[in-house]
Formats: sequence, structure tokens, C-alpha cells
Amino acid sequence: LYTREEVKRHRTPQDRVWVTHGTEVFDVTDFVELHPGGADKVLLAAGGALEPFWALYAVHSQPHVLELLREYKVGELSPEEAPPSPDAAQDPFAGDPPRHPGLRVNSLKPFNAEPPAQLLAERFLTPNELFFTRNHLPVPAVDPGSYRLQVEGPGGRALSLSLSELRGRFPKHEVTATLQCAGNRRSEMSRVRPVKGLPWDIGAISTARWGGARLRDVLLHAGFGEHREGEWHVCFEGLDVDVGGSPYGASIPYSRAVSSASDVLLAYEMNGEELPRDHGFPVRVVVPGVVGARSVKWLRRVAVSPAESPSHWQQNDYKGFCPSVDWDTVDYRTAPAIQELPVQSAITQPPAGAAVPPGELTVKGYAWSGGGREVVRVDVWTLWELRAPVAAGEELEIVCKAVDASYNVQPDTVAPIWNLRGVLSNAWHRVRVSVS
Ligand code: MTE
Repeated sequence: LYTREEVKRHRTPQDRVWVTHGTEVFDVTDFVELHPGGADKVLLAAGGALEPFWALYAVHSQPHVLELLREYKVGELSPEEAPPSPDAAQDPFAGDPPRHPGLRVNSLKPFNAEPPAQLLAERFLTPNELFFTRNHLPVPAVDPGSYRLQVEGPGGRALSLSLSELRGRFPKHEVTATLQCAGNRRSEMSRVRPVKGLPWDIGAISTARWGGARLRDVLLHAGFGEHREGEWHVCFEGLDVDVGGSPYGASIPYSRAVSSASDVLLAYEMNGEELPRDHGFPVRVVVPGVVGARSVKWLRRVAVSPAESPSHWQQNDYKGFCPSVDWDTVDYRTAPAIQELPVQSAITQPPAGAAVPPGELTVKGYAWSGGGREVVRVDVWTLWELRAPVAAGEELEIVCKAVDASYNVQPDTVAPIWNLRGVLSNAWHRVRVSVS
């Protein structure tokens, strides 16, 4: 009999690779290299349960897979005492939802995590369980029955919409869009000089098919009109609040919010399912082509306003500065809030530092550009793959670089785009490997 703690210690071929299925424990070390989906994929489950991974890869739900697994059985899980329940009054994050063990966690409270690179480029749509999560605050518990979305502002009629009104009154619209956090690839920037922020690797980017009402339809229904004189903004507020009671908030220009080409959604579906709690249940904004920070989750209020959102995250964060600006000289009022993101790409396979065999090497990755550049109305997220001959003994630097339809190109190195907050990190992605 083994405890989960004991199983957890077996995560590498050196320590033996153990996994569980139900209450059974398996030593699959000798199977790792035989796994048809690749050794790196089995290792993601090492030290824990197989079920969350098998749930994503339906090919495993066949009787012969279980039969094969049984050959590796080494024991059973001991009946464990229930995990101590955290005291909700002490821990504001106690009500956060369960998460997929495959996510690479950058911070637990608040929860921030990215999919492992090798799974990110596996599929065009990122499975909901692996979609990167960027939370600034605890996940609010929302009762869908009493949920109301407030819509207001000068020149329109105030609305208070229930979930069924949002679903029933406005046509459902679907958009495939990529969300990327401004901090994606920040860890590369920190290697040039330390920056303030979570150490995201290349996975703070994911793609989903979103379904919901168009923000445009809701604004027009409230009488706000197609065009507005002067500068106007649409401000969003979430139901997640900080200790002082201020909600997460952000805004986008009115013209983008109301444009039929921008496809801004009040989304209640993600890849055909209701929104998961981590991604904004029951309703979030999705602004295709724009930095993830503006796609406000757990949406409670939409306000048309002559000014940008007063929120900290619109005014004093998510802005870019030049490399000479430091924390003593930074003045957030001088820089525009990030909206459309620049062209980006990264290598997801092979991982940095890998030793690869000589012969044909498969290199894979993603490329994407903000602002809907290349194809109108849908964001472009390209998964690419290249096979190249490599010879024994070589030390390689694999580099990827994308160009978008406006001929915008990624900068070649990080240093000239370094900024104190580590945002907009989009230099050529470089991965060193040795051929052994
Ligand atoms: N909305 C609320 N209410 N609270 C948040 O913390 N984070 C923002 C945005 N919307 C956030 C939010 C940021 S910075 C990003 S990158 C995206 O949500 C991430 O969305 P995801 O967690 O669904 O990937």
C-alpha cells in the first residue's frame, strides 16, 4: 500500500515513474519510451493520476489500454484520510476551483498557470482544462440564477440582464480567438535584467472557440448607437474584488466594442461548454486580437464612458516603457494602455536544453499576431512544423521568427525591448539543443 505522497516521489526515470489509476499504483518506467504519444507526454502525469490526462486524450478509453497498464501494477493506494479543509475565513482562495495537474503553475494564490509547451502546439484549440489561467484575485463564486449584468452610460438605456436574457435576447455568435497575456515569455526578459511579474514561459497564450452575445448587439439594443462623437470607451468590471472592495477592471475603445468586424463577445461558452470558473463563469468579455487583460472575466458591469477604465490594471499596469525607464522614473500616465498585441511566435518542440538524436529533427511551434492582422474578423493562430536534418555532435540554436500580414516582424533580441514590467516580450524565440 502506498500513500499519494509516496507516489509523488516517483517522477523521473531515475526515481522510477509511477502513476495511479483509480486506487491502483503502476510503475510505468519501462513503458515511457514505448508510449505511442511520446515519452514527454507520459512524464506529465508522473507521480500522480492518469485520469485528468486520459480525459483529454480519448484514445485511452479502450479496454486494451487498461490491460496494458495492468502489466505495470505495483500496488494500491492506501485509504487516505480526507485532506484538511482550508478555513474559508482565513484563506480567500479556499473557494477556488480544482485545476488540471498538467498545468505549469506560476503562482497558486492567485492562481496563474500555463499549459506545458508540448501540449500547447498539439491542437489548434487549447482544451479548457489546459487553457492558461491569469487570475489577479480569488475566483468569485457566482450563482447563475441570481446573476445580473449591468449595462449603463450616458446616451443609452440602463439594462440589467439575467443569464437567460443574455442568451435568449441576443443571437449567439461564435468566434475562434487566441488570448495572450502581456506577460507571455516574461522569463526571457528577466534573463536580460530582472523585471517585476510572474515568470511566464511561452505558454501564456491559448486558443478557444468562444460563444456568446456580441457586445455590439447589446450596446445597440441599449440605444448607444453605431457612432459617437469624440473619444469614448467601454469599461468592464469583474465580480472579483480586492481587499479594499475594488473590482478587476479594464476598458477598450468604443469603436472596437461596437464594430461588427471586431467580434467582441460577452461569452458564456468556451469550446462548446459553459465557461469554466477559472475562465470567467458565467460571462466574460472576449476581445480578439487584444491583450488578454481587457477580456474581463466574471463580468458584472459594462459602462460606456468618456474616459478609460479607472482600474489599476488599465491605468497603472499593462503598459510598455523603454529600457531606460526604471521604478524611480516610471510615470504610467505617459504611456498608452496596451491594446492590440504585436506579432509573436515560439518553439514548443524540442524543449530548450534537449539532447536530440541525429537524423531528422521535428521542430514545432506557434505564431500569432494581434489586431486580427492577416484575416479579417478572426484571429490567426498558426501551428507550424518543420523537419530538418541534424548531424551527431552538433550544438544547435533553433530560432523562430514570424511576420504578419502587415509585414510586422519580431525583433531579433530581447534587450532593446526590455521593460521594467516585462510585458510585450516577443523577440525571436531561441532553443538550444545538442545532437547526441
Ligand atoms: N478578469 C478578471 N475579472 N480578473 C482577472 O484577474 N485577468 C485578465 C483577464 N481578465 C483577469 C480578467 C488577464 S491579465 C488575462 S491575460 C486574461 O483574463 C486571462 O484569461 P484566462 O485566465 O481565461 O486565460
